[in-house]
Amino acid sequence: MATTKTAKKTTRKADQYNDPKYNYQDYWTGREYEHAAEEMAINRLLKGKHFEQAIDVGGGYGRLSKFLTKYADKVTLAEPSQQQLDIGKIYLKDMPSVERKLLQAADLKMPASSVDLVLVVRVLHHLPDPSAEFNEISRVLKPGGNFILEFANDAHFLNRLRYGVRGKSVPIKPVDISSEANKNDKELPFVNHHPKAIIKLLHKAGFEVESVLSGSNLRSPKLKKVLGKKPLLAAESVLQPMLAPLYFGPSIWLKLRKK
Ligand SMILES: C[S@@+](CC[C@H](N)C(=O)[O-])C[C@H]1O[C@@H](n2cnc3c(N)ncnc32)[C@H](O)[C@@H]1O
Repeated sequence: MATTKTAKKTTRKADQYNDPKYNYQDYWTGREYEHAAEEMAINRLLKGKHFEQAIDVGGGYGRLSKFLTKYADKVTLAEPSQQQLDIGKIYLKDMPSVERKLLQAADLKMPASSVDLVLVVRVLHHLPDPSAEFNEISRVLKPGGNFILEFANDAHFLNRLRYGVRGKSVPIKPVDISSEANKNDKELPFVNHHPKAIIKLLHKAGFEVESVLSGSNLRSPKLKKVLGKKPLLAAESVLQPMLAPLYFGPSIWLKLRKK
């Protein structure tokens, strides 16, 4: 039984983040609005706080690890793709307080209660059942420590309309949105989550929700073209807290506190 559990934790599927033909850093070219909207959400959730040790779990090449140095003395970029860590070596070359480690979210190999901030952004769509990962994050966080979680929201406003016109509700279970070609057990899963299901799992893992934000509310290529980044961000700034109670946007941000 124990052997099976270890194997499950460390098995790595083939995926784009390790594909030499794919550079995740390039994905961010032309997505300055989305990146700035994410930094805005983090600033809002962490305003006035400072931490000793943060972990950016599934942090890729460290896009947000760099930003986290504003809030923490030390940052660990915990990432299971060696390719991402290699890109991060260059991206983070002027950031001595960021350490890069090859790690899976379900097995962070850190002592219990050893960190005071965890960030998980754009990772949950690869984890159809994130229970083991939430339990591991809860284990490494000190009581009272913060966990900032962003995930793709299956119950966003447009989707609720789409389901509603068919007389249905958005499913509570994770919804597989992988392309047909990628629907096999070799590729990383690709799912969207319902906020209610995620919050239920977080409560089980020992977290309480301190704040919610609705993110990337105006993510639309047309709007980006017509309005430009500055006005979009001004609107996003108002909408993030305003639309949070409706779980409106395609991305949901939670600020959690370990009990
Ligand atoms: C879309 S990228 C997001 C990277 C970074 N958080 C960001 O926002 O720029 C998804 C990342 O999740 C990582 N990932 C996938 N499965 C994971 C797991 N089980 N544990 C930790 N990270 C994982 C991938 O390797 C990839 O770097």
